[in-house]
Amino acid sequence: MNEPVEPTVPTLYGSSRQRRVTVRDLQLAKERGERWPMITAYDAVTARIFDQADIPVILVGDSAAMVVYGYDSTIPITVDDLLPLTRAVARGTQHALIVADLPFGSYQSGVAQALDTASRFLKQAGAHAVKVEGGQRILPQVEALVAAGIPVIGHLGLTPQSVNVLGGYRVQGRGEAGEQLMQDAKALAQVGASAIVLECVPAALAAKVTASLPIPTIGIGAGGDTDAQVLVWQDLCGLTEGPAPKFVPRYADMRAVITDAVTNWSADVRDGTYPGPEHAYN
Ligand code: KIV
Repeated sequence: MNEPVEPTVPTLYGSSRQRRVTVRDLQLAKERGERWPMITAYDAVTARIFDQADIPVILVGDSAAMVVYGYDSTIPITVDDLLPLTRAVARGTQHALIVADLPFGSYQSGVAQALDTASRFLKQAGAHAVKVEGGQRILPQVEALVAAGIPVIGHLGLTPQSVNVLGGYRVQGRGEAGEQLMQDAKALAQVGASAIVLECVPAALAAKVTASLPIPTIGIGAGGDTDAQVLVWQDLCGLTEGPAPKFVPRYADMRAVITDAVTNWSADVRDGTYPGPEHAYN
């Protein structure tokens, strides 16, 4: 009789073809030294594109406040604004791990509030994990969420929900603040966070935190030594207007592509070229 074959632990991308990526896959990837990308999505169509492009983790970020709802910060967005977007992203994907950002004011007041909000994102929208901003001040919430079976991703450095305290969107963790950030990161890992986003911190600090933590770090404006990288997809693809922070690469100029498409179509409608006979039903 053949010996039973031990199931092999699939790699992050290998596993994504058969089943959803899980936070355990992210942990194993860190242990193998395998880097991975996380991208934002807010609707089913783009989420499906990213899923089919083998992006293993999709974040329904509260950046939706700006890129979907047109606010100038993440402060005003609510749970009711984000739930339908998360539901659409979950519906549009088959393989990626879906992370839902908990919006400002939906978890800070205590453990019960955090549990209520996070449960809604898992039960009503199909998210698999939640992301929360802050370090030691929200440890009880993180610990309780993990104890309840909800994977948590932390977020340190430039935490946009605290922009009014930070005094603007600026690099964080310089000088002595770096030690505080390191303590926050270690504390989050200790209470069971699955990963930590490091936003706008010096590259050397992000490298040190990454080397000190047993869990993956996900950088945005944090240099090249984090375990993963995250970007807002409209920034990556050149849809957002105006000057961008220096860490934002432009892999495409979708603003120009869309502008050309609608301008050409508009001209064709005006001069009667569209619709032609090939667009009409006999
Ligand atoms: O809301 C968001 O998109 C984020 C990422 C930029 C990390 O928090």
